Amino acid sequence: MSEPIPVARRLSVVKPSATVAVAQRARELKAQGIDVLSFSVGEPDFDTPVHIREAAKQAIDSGATRYTAARGTVELREAICDASAKRRPGASYEPSDVVVSVGAKHTLFNLALALYDEGDEVLIPAPYWVSYPEQVRLAGAEPVIVQTSEEQGFRMTPEMLRAAITPKTKALILCSPSNPTGGAYSGEQLRALADVAAEHDFWIIVDEIYGQLVYGGFEQKSIVEVAPELKDRIIIVDGVSKTFAMTGWRIGWMLSPAYVAKACEKIQSQSTTNPSSIAQSAAIAALRGPWEPLEEMRQAFEARRSIIVEGLNAIEGISCGTPEGAFYAFANVQGLIGKQGGGKQLETDLDVAGYLLEEARCAVVPGTAFGAPGFVRISYAASNDMIREGLKRIGEAVGKLS
Ligand SMILES: Cc1ncc(COP(=O)(O)O)c(C=O)c1O
Repeated sequence: MSEPIPVARRLSVVKPSATVAVAQRARELKAQGIDVLSFSVGEPDFDTPVHIREAAKQAIDSGATRYTAARGTVELREAICDASAKRRPGASYEPSDVVVSVGAKHTLFNLALALYDEGDEVLIPAPYWVSYPEQVRLAGAEPVIVQTSEEQGFRMTPEMLRAAITPKTKALILCSPSNPTGGAYSGEQLRALADVAAEHDFWIIVDEIYGQLVYGGFEQKSIVEVAPELKDRIIIVDGVSKTFAMTGWRIGWMLSPAYVAKACEKIQSQSTTNPSSIAQSAAIAALRGPWEPLEEMRQAFEARRSIIVEGLNAIEGISCGTPEGAFYAFANVQGLIGKQGGGKQLETDLDVAGYLLEEARCAVVPGTAFGAPGFVRISYAASNDMIREGLKRIGEAVGKLS
């Protein structure tokens, strides 16, 4: 028998998602009837608001069931530009600057193919969202990871940025508020980064998918507002998944210079064609309002943030800063490393996550998955009761360590 035909070489540089291993083990335990609490998910636990669901039903009944323009309907792209103008005053975009894709992840993938050539370097501050480096690698370019520190709220400083830039730098990917840390850049911090970027020539890609999920009066700013002179080098990535509890609908988009939008449209026209016509109609309803359901969800996340941060800091060996946004707590578990639990020594955050799964029956994601060993990401897209129960279990499990 001949050898199996190999898959393409480009896959050899791509890692499978490290978060999948945790999810898989959690599923196995659940299948055995063990009640596992999952704090590993990256999606709101709320249902999509009613008026959005109704808009989708109406779209089906009124025949909006055919192919649309590859980059999305004009109506949706207009709604995106209008919503953006409210959120990012001073930076106006036209429908020709917008490409709607099958989720923001797809938007980022189109961008990787459209912008990066072999040998290009793409700066990614760590902790990072897992897909950024892998998409860069798939496009044949080189992710350059910029380590940030907990003391600086996991934010990249202008000095860190300056030190990482080389003649090969093609892009910087910023995420604010961040997955996995929840940290966000203030207007002044973005301005300081823009000052460094302005001395060079590379793309600034900003993932603002959590931009409307900020708490405690934090003033969310986009780099395009604070550095409008760089607008022709800034690409904003956004979508409905997180803000409107619409992860399954698969609608994301970018706002960019028109020629970049054209390039991404070309790629998309040869891959997925358009995102779902029905989901596009639903996204219009999301962006046009009413806004009350969004505010209700935001307030619920804000309340949960307090419960989880307070609860984690009350556990000896765990500490956690207060994130400005998103729905993740990024907890320092270095105080647990070196301890004995479950018959073995916990040597890494992967061991800590494994121990919490087996002993506390709580699924959390090890920081190593995000380029930040020594931490775990705990999603608080879960009910208050579940968060309280999880904290209790984690506290008890940590109490058993010796
Ligand atoms: C930082 C960040 N960007 C983009 C995405 C992708 O969102 P979607 O493809 O659902 O629009 C996610 C989802 O987890 C995310 O956390």
